[in-house]
Amino acid sequence: RLVAEKLSAAATGSPAPLSQEDLKRIAAHRAVDLVESGMVIGLGTGSTAAHALDRLGDLIRRGVLRDIVGIPTSKKTEAHARAVGIPLSDLDAHPFVDLAIDGADEVDPYLNLVKGRGGSLLREKMIEGASRRFVVIVDETKMVNVLGGSGLAVPVEVIPFCWKFTLGKLRQLFVGIPGFDLKLRTDNGDEKTPSVTDNSNYVVDLYFENGISGDLVEISDAILKIVGVVEHGMFLGMATSVIIAGKEGGVTVIE
Ligand code: 5RP
Repeated sequence: RLVAEKLSAAATGSPAPLSQEDLKRIAAHRAVDLVESGMVIGLGTGSTAAHALDRLGDLIRRGVLRDIVGIPTSKKTEAHARAVGIPLSDLDAHPFVDLAIDGADEVDPYLNLVKGRGGSLLREKMIEGASRRFVVIVDETKMVNVLGGSGLAVPVEVIPFCWKFTLGKLRQLFVGIPGFDLKLRTDNGDEKTPSVTDNSNYVVDLYFENGISGDLVEISDAILKIVGVVEHGMFLGMATSVIIAGKEGGVTVIE
């Protein structure tokens, strides 16, 4: 199902052309419109999800929404949510989440996603996988024909123990694919300073110059079979809807 709404700069109260940040905020606010009092909400991570946190916090503070419980997908989101007054809990206490709202790095036409540029893919996948509805909020630049096709990484969270061995296994899996490359995510380009996730793991970024070709479920299974891999950033068949804000086309909701 596809719902499209025209959006004009005037509708946002601003005479200026919409910036990418405006689009992220519009998509986020549209998702927060779905929140009802008493819901358990999965709180995403990233610059788009941050707009949803601000909006949710605002509605809670003004008493428009009551008895909301937020389940944060990262330490950063936890701190942000706390700062804007969203009551927090976790999956142990609330294993059933009513609605999760999060951004994505890429969305394909079948609503498969790549996530994890912020390194929060594991907690995101756990919480969004436990959600009755998972609403993805993006600006139009995130839409791709094929996952991996935007040139951004497909992240894989790996345990630090012998990470080079695990990276080698990942390389073997995609050997011979033109334009494939992979590397350890680092804080300053130096392997001596790997980026560390909230779960104290490392991230190996996979790059597919021409996008990922082949059966995504088979590729997902093959990655997860490698001992040392914790999780990857392909979210297949998980999103229940995607809210896309675009400069020309307005807001499009795909369900
Ligand atoms: C973090 C994520 C983010 O949701 C994704 O990277 C999109 O972020 P942004 O809204 O800043 O573009 O998966 O792990």
